[in-house]
Amino acid sequence: MRMTRRGFCAGLALLPLARPAVAQTMPLLTAQEAMVQLAPDTYPATPVWSYDGAVPGPVIRAAQGDRLERRLVNDLNVPTSIHWHGIRIDNAMDGVAGLTQDPVPPGHSFDYAFDLPDAGTYWYHAHTNSMEQVARGLSGALIVEETTPPDVDRDEVLMIDDWLIDPDTGRFADGFAAPMTLSHGGRIGNLVGVNGRYDYSLSARQNERLRLRLINSANARIFGLRLEGLRGWAVALDGMPLAEPGPVTDTLVLAPAQRIDLIVDVTAEEGAAAGLLFAAADDTWRALAEITVAGRSATASRDMPAPLPPNPRMEVGSPETARLRDMPLQGGAMRGLERARFRGRVTAWQELVRNGRFWALAGQVGLGETPFATLSRGETARIRMTNDTIFPHAMHLHGMHFRTRNEDGALGPLRDTVLVMPNETTEIAFVAHNPGKWLLHCHMLGHAASGMTNWIMVS
Ligand code: C2O
Ligand code: CU
Repeated sequence: MRMTRRGFCAGLALLPLARPAVAQTMPLLTAQEAMVQLAPDTYPATPVWSYDGAVPGPVIRAAQGDRLERRLVNDLNVPTSIHWHGIRIDNAMDGVAGLTQDPVPPGHSFDYAFDLPDAGTYWYHAHTNSMEQVARGLSGALIVEETTPPDVDRDEVLMIDDWLIDPDTGRFADGFAAPMTLSHGGRIGNLVGVNGRYDYSLSARQNERLRLRLINSANARIFGLRLEGLRGWAVALDGMPLAEPGPVTDTLVLAPAQRIDLIVDVTAEEGAAAGLLFAAADDTWRALAEITVAGRSATASRDMPAPLPPNPRMEVGSPETARLRDMPLQGGAMRGLERARFRGRVTAWQELVRNGRFWALAGQVGLGETPFATLSRGETARIRMTNDTIFPHAMHLHGMHFRTRNEDGALGPLRDTVLVMPNETTEIAFVAHNPGKWLLHCHMLGHAASGMTNWIMVS
């Protein structure tokens, strides 16, 4: 009797305490400093800027059609904001400091809440001084799951990154804004890794079928990737399902911010080498993520996977009759440019260089007052990007996916980031269905910071 009574009283006492604490609060995502062991254990740990203390930040998983809510709490000493890369998002939630919101000052917070219309592999990252903040660790994966997921044994996120670290101190090398870095290929790391580990590995059994979601969160490195001991198909690019799975027979190219979803079957036998390889600077193929094959799955090897279900409303209208807008990509080391609009006036190259600006998009250096294009809602847009520089650029459009279009009018797969090689011309086409102010910029983040950022208006 006494025991029952005590138990009952204890229960009563706990209830009012436990309930209000969880009610009414958005899940938090805290930008904070942390120490993370990115380099091998024999080197010091690295002081990072992180989401929730980890690099990369937590994998956020949600279902297609869900509403995602996160309160960004800024515990850093610098202002910050979050961009949800690849999501067809409400413009006010796009996270671009200076265009769609004010940066969140230290000690303050900002509530992000938006719908997730499309399934796929996306990511989130800082969009305030992103060239430094992303390099210091502020990024994570955002996975939107299909209502009917594909038939795989496991679903693995591989966030591929590189870091420029001083091996003696473990600290990130300074010089985020070094002119040499900005005007050339950008900040390339001396350590390559997956999910915050230089030696990332996972184990699998022979004949297992895995979905690998590859995300390139590096500042500037273009990864060449190959499969070893795996038979694979690409099933989605930049989150968007391919109409037909494409067998992986050769090198996959993954530019900064791009994603590839692979479905792979483990063909290697127990003990044999398997995993993801990357092309190192010396032209050798090195392990990026190792798959240790332990045992054999009961399933026999399977047929080619079915395509993922397409996302809704992805038409590009009729580009044939749409107005074509030209966007030359100019500047950088070796080529430079004569003059461009900067802070509202035509400015000569020497003065741009003195201001740490090296690149222009359509003659505009960085965000101007007026957008590159003003589109009416529902209009089909065509933008022809011509790379007049000697460097590749990973061009990213916020808020809407596009298709590349060749001279014959043939359309490529849906993407949000396209790699434009030197002297190459790439035309993109999309329907401007999402109202607001949308960035169009190079995702080599040092390029973006030193001029390669423009924007379009959809109203
Ligand atoms: Cu992934 Cu403007 O960014
Ligand atoms: Cu670039």
